[in-house]
Amino acid sequence: MIEIRGTLFDEQTIAKKVKELADRISTDYAGKDLVLVCILKGAVVFMADLMRCLSMPVAIDFVRAASYGVSTEPSRNIVITKDIETDIKGKHVLLVDTIIDTGETLHCLLEKMKGKGPASLEVVVLLDKKPRRTVAVTLAYRGFEIPDVFVVGYGVDCAEQYRNLPYISVVRMNPDA
Ligand code: IMP
Ligand code: MG
Repeated sequence: MIEIRGTLFDEQTIAKKVKELADRISTDYAGKDLVLVCILKGAVVFMADLMRCLSMPVAIDFVRAASYGVSTEPSRNIVITKDIETDIKGKHVLLVDTIIDTGETLHCLLEKMKGKGPASLEVVVLLDKKPRRTVAVTLAYRGFEIPDVFVVGYGVDCAEQYRNLPYISVVRMNPDA
């Protein structure tokens, strides 16, 4: 059982921030060959909104990472269960995720993507749960900094539920426990 505790970011606030990030990306990558890589599943909603706010054509691809072990442990075993299909050698790549927590997933994906020889490799995240970071990750584009709370909505789940909420909420786990 979980309890949804109000709205942290409503649809309008999210849309405004996504537009801001997209405007910066459009300026920075103008005239460049950009590939957006969506980190499944959590980034599908953010990716869909972000790419529609960009002013230039982009290629898109998808990667899925699964992590084994618990998030409170310093190092988890992260494996790619679905890799990108695009040849990113010599191309500008932007990894798109909705939330960064410990940073382990993005750190691991950045290492793996670097090996494919992109011309550049950067990250855009909507939510940065900075107090939880265990590994340094450079975020070229970041929407909101949030405290150490568990959120759902806008693609982000709790046990695979709530990804379809159009806003972002904080949840409290086991309210009856
Ligand atoms: P990291 O490797 O610890 O940075 O984990 C990032 C991933 O953990 C995100 O892409 C989410 O899938 C998941 N995650 C982190 N914080 C939350 C949260 O508050 N709600 C739901 N999923 C989260
Ligand atoms: Mg999840």
